[in-house]
Amino acid sequence: MLADPPLVLQKRSDQLICDVKADIEKNRGWIGFDHFMNQALYTPDLGYYSGGMQKFGEDGDFVTAPMLGDFFAFALAGQCDEIFQQLEHGGKQPGSATLSSNREKVQLNDENVIGERIIIEFGAGDGQLVVGILRQMEKQDLRIDRYWIVETSDDLQHRQREAVNRSGLKYACKVSWLAQLPESGFEGVVIANELLDALPVKRFEIVENGKAMEMGVGIDEQGLTWKRSNHALADEYQARLSSHRLPVGYQSEIGIQAEVWVRSVGEKLKRGAMLLIDYGFPEREYYHVDRKEGTLMCHYRHQAHSDPFFYPGLQDITAHIDFSAVAAAGKEVGLTLSGYSPQGGFLLSLGILDYLAARQDSLSSDSKKYFELTRQIKMLTLPHEMGELFKVMVLSAGSLDQLTGFSLQDHGARL
Ligand SMILES: C[S@@+](CC[C@H](N)C(=O)[O-])C[C@H]1O[C@@H](n2cnc3c(N)ncnc32)[C@H](O)[C@@H]1O
Repeated sequence: MLADPPLVLQKRSDQLICDVKADIEKNRGWIGFDHFMNQALYTPDLGYYSGGMQKFGEDGDFVTAPMLGDFFAFALAGQCDEIFQQLEHGGKQPGSATLSSNREKVQLNDENVIGERIIIEFGAGDGQLVVGILRQMEKQDLRIDRYWIVETSDDLQHRQREAVNRSGLKYACKVSWLAQLPESGFEGVVIANELLDALPVKRFEIVENGKAMEMGVGIDEQGLTWKRSNHALADEYQARLSSHRLPVGYQSEIGIQAEVWVRSVGEKLKRGAMLLIDYGFPEREYYHVDRKEGTLMCHYRHQAHSDPFFYPGLQDITAHIDFSAVAAAGKEVGLTLSGYSPQGGFLLSLGILDYLAARQDSLSSDSKKYFELTRQIKMLTLPHEMGELFKVMVLSAGSLDQLTGFSLQDHGARL
């Protein structure tokens, strides 16, 4: 049973519901689920991400990997450094035989200089990952020239600025926020942790003739409700789904916006890599006949449930990622799959246990702290926690040698 929020927040959600209903009425009684999800998460001031809700951590609705200590940031900092080193010392640029060395800096455009080490994080939440990665880089004396953040929520951007300013890091001055990527492209390492699952999805239901009909939102006497449209999904999605022989009544999602995002960022990535971390599976598992209600999930006060119409604007709405579709979208714009692994294998490959062991001496008298660190590692890596469901995918522009993060597990062939 989900507890009702305080009245003041209920009123805010009512305002958003009024906006949604107005859209439904304007659209003759129906809007697509992707449209609703976009409104519920991103309507200025009222949407879950664009309003001022406390989303993350104990007092919020869910916890993400950067909030579980510094192991995640340690691993990502190491992986980014290895990618930068490969780019500097021998990776191949698409369509070019040579690489600019670290010392030969060439102006690519106003913002980006070839040879600079740039991380571009999309959807940086409350800023824990940027601070964690920069802290690791500073501590290990790893070079980073710029850390760009692209964040659509003004509220979260504000929290990220506060987190970076509070960090006291020398590297804090490397961070800047971009409204959009440079028009002419960029070089660097893109990081997106739990971004793709927050992008609007299309929902469908299989009907008697085998077609996938689009599901959306209508209005009944209770308020907002699921409503099936009488139009089928576009042919390319019907074709994708047809090989899975899904039964009548089967419902699921297609992460159209996630694919659009990968293509649009991938097109601009002239050289470098995209590190995508999220929960999901390959297409075969995603559209397994047993997963007949799809992957839609809502998070409210640390409870996961499946009702997207529960106080819109006050809860998170997500869907799992079809990583086969993400890899295919990358391929369409010339990216190469450099690795795909469960998160547990990725983090362990990058030495988080050695990082824990290195701190053991200083923790010998603090068993409580040691217990907390081992708890964090278990949460990040155990199969029934985040270790198996969460995956890490690297798509690269230009070829990379095998990355350390995929040395224990690389399931790319399963996509
Ligand atoms: C589920 S949160 C993940 C936050 C953070 N990466 C973490 O792991 O804690 C999704 C984030 O993506 C942001 N976001 C959503 N759409 C975006 C877009 N198109 N570009 C950049 N950020 C976006 C949200 O505002 C939010 O910060």
